[in-house]
Amino acid sequence: MKPDMKVTIAGVEFANPLMTASGCCGYGEELSGVYSLKHLGALVTKSITAKPREGHPPPRTAEVPGGMLNAIGLANVGIDRFISEKIPFLQKQNTRIIVNVAGSTIHEYVDICSRLEDQPRVDMVELNISCPNVNEGGMEIGASPPMTERTIREVRRVFSRPIVAKLSPNVTSVVDIAKAAEQGGADCLSLINSLVGTSVDINTWRPRLTNNRGGLTGPGIKPIALAMVDAVYNATSLPIIGIGGISNVIDAVEFFLCGATALQVGTALFIHPDAPVRIVRDLQDYLEQKKLSSITELVGKVRKY
Ligand code: SIN
Repeated sequence: MKPDMKVTIAGVEFANPLMTASGCCGYGEELSGVYSLKHLGALVTKSITAKPREGHPPPRTAEVPGGMLNAIGLANVGIDRFISEKIPFLQKQNTRIIVNVAGSTIHEYVDICSRLEDQPRVDMVELNISCPNVNEGGMEIGASPPMTERTIREVRRVFSRPIVAKLSPNVTSVVDIAKAAEQGGADCLSLINSLVGTSVDINTWRPRLTNNRGGLTGPGIKPIALAMVDAVYNATSLPIIGIGGISNVIDAVEFFLCGATALQVGTALFIHPDAPVRIVRDLQDYLEQKKLSSITELVGKVRKY
């Protein structure tokens, strides 16, 4: 018998633990032209805000050694169009749907999540309290334990299904933020979002992003993400969705061993849109080789010196 790939987070069962990371495949329509979304454990949407956003002008992505920088500026269709235009497509997909939510104020997060409460096909919300590319909200909330706790507590009042808090690595102590999220009533943590970085064009002497700075993602951030997942796993009792440079089965196994229950693939999708599907298949082979019957047997099993 093939190893069991199912995982359960906050009472929600996922066919497998591989998800797309927010912002790396929009609302899933284009990706569904490459393969059936039923192969994903979940699709995580681009961040949704109260009003539509154009985001920052291009260039807003730049390739750098070890990954890429982005400063998209939360470009999205806004909650009204998301519900009228994107939910009908998502409703038909045979996968779990996690809607990523961003806001400039706590009120904005609450407002959007109260609208999503009426959308039963939305399995979970992921609160983006970690976007490094906006001046208000985002990382401003996610760098403060009291603001993190309050945001989740307020959303909890209007949204009855599981809440995932997406954490920033650009903080003094990710453990303090994780504990605040747990205190506020989060059901799960996802980490890490991108690290603030920049890159300069030596011909024009200008930064390669119009926002001057952006968020670094890709293989170069994996060791940082693993260390943070490990620290948070040992400090809270919440399930963790690991994010940060996951491209292949080796990366995936490392994250499970450090404490992740599920994983999101982001930057790798730009090279191999089917990376999550390949990883699931390779993980099954790995489990078979190790004579393990379930993916859950790996979670948190790193052997420390
Ligand atoms: C962006 O839209 O600028 C990126 C979002 C994020 O990193 O949270």
